[in-house]
Amino acid sequence: MDSIHIYGGNLLKGETRVQGSKNAVLPILAATLLIRGTCVIKNCPRIADVYHMQNLLQELGCMVHWAGSTVTVDAAQVNDNRMSGESVTRMRSSIMLLGAMLGRMGEAVMSYPGGCVIGKRPIDIHLLALRNMGVEITEEDQMFTARALHLQGTQLSLPFPSVGATENVLLAAVLAEGTTVLENAAKEPEIEALCGFLAMAGADISGTGSSRLVIRGVKELHEVKYTVPADRIVAGTYLTAAMAAGGSIFLEQAPAGHLAALFKAVKEMGGSITINKEGIGIDILHRLKSLPYLKTEVYDGFPTDLQSPMMAVMALAEGQSVIEENIFENRFRVVGDLGKMGADIETVKNKAYIRGVEKLSGCTVEAEELRGGAALVVAGLAAEGRTVIKNRHFIERGYENICRDLRDLGADISIG
Ligand code: UD1
Repeated sequence: MDSIHIYGGNLLKGETRVQGSKNAVLPILAATLLIRGTCVIKNCPRIADVYHMQNLLQELGCMVHWAGSTVTVDAAQVNDNRMSGESVTRMRSSIMLLGAMLGRMGEAVMSYPGGCVIGKRPIDIHLLALRNMGVEITEEDQMFTARALHLQGTQLSLPFPSVGATENVLLAAVLAEGTTVLENAAKEPEIEALCGFLAMAGADISGTGSSRLVIRGVKELHEVKYTVPADRIVAGTYLTAAMAAGGSIFLEQAPAGHLAALFKAVKEMGGSITINKEGIGIDILHRLKSLPYLKTEVYDGFPTDLQSPMMAVMALAEGQSVIEENIFENRFRVVGDLGKMGADIETVKNKAYIRGVEKLSGCTVEAEELRGGAALVVAGLAAEGRTVIKNRHFIERGYENICRDLRDLGADISIG
């Protein structure tokens, strides 16, 4: 069965290690296409989205090999430029391969990418940026072809600091002719990780971590060994699990520098965070207070990927909380199932009004997407009785082994 079973009510206690970052490793895997040789990538999470990316790289001609959590990609031979089928349509980040394939082959043919069902998620900003670099795009049926005889550096300000579009520009620009100056670039830590990987391989990038990236095209990149940083969203999810269920946990290798917006919320609600060089600890010793207003924003604001798990926390906090979702449409899909568990939540457009209840009750619910699914796990840990979450596969897109990690933290949770 594709489900997760939780007997809620245990206070969480213990330690677990945080996996490598999904959103960092996906564009880095795409970037290996730019390197005519072998790259060794350590600390790769074994999650469905990484396996989809692996399939796509293999279809293009790369050799991909796993040893534990280390992935080796040999992209010496890339002999196809067509990307279609399930791996593209099921995973939005397959769009990363567009910039990388243009850098490698000058041409790519692909179906429109898919991903979570959280709103329209168009790719117009990606295409606008690539057109600026001399790429011609033609569309036919559900496929489009992108072609550039010579990728040209450009000067461009993104209309919105899209994470994926920033990554695609980086991937296309590192081997382009001349210099690309990208303004209003996304500043998410995963962009820094991609810049770090590309710089290790010989790319010339300045402004890393800022909203103005300057990329001077180089002739070629060379083989690298790289370690993927820890996943800030997985770490954040486990912190919200403790906020909902109560207790004291420690997350080894959690990236404390990237979670300031969540820490602020924890403190305002009455929890306590400790940070040391080994990771992050949280202590939740009594019922949390509500958070009057929380809005999702681009980095370093509160991340949209933690909005649903935070909603599960607020469902149990004392008083009314409000969430304003500003990054994605339709990211309140979990509200119905949280309601089934006893939460009192009303949504109006991009705002959710959450009146905290004293208890949630376990029942059968259904994950509809990745982070909403994680929110149901958070709620299930705090609920009375048994929660069955169907469609575990959505959660496995981003969490390597959420049941193992939460069992390390004292939860009664298993796959069913
Ligand atoms: C990435 C993350 C995702 C995270 C999101 C925002 C990966 C694999 N995924 O997604 O987990 O939630 O950043 O932090 O890294 N948009 C357009 N046109 C475009 C591109 C985006 O309108 O061409 C819109 C999207 O529909 C969305 C918003 O911009 O409403 C943010 O998208 P973007 O920053 O591109 O997110 P992703 O890269 O898809």
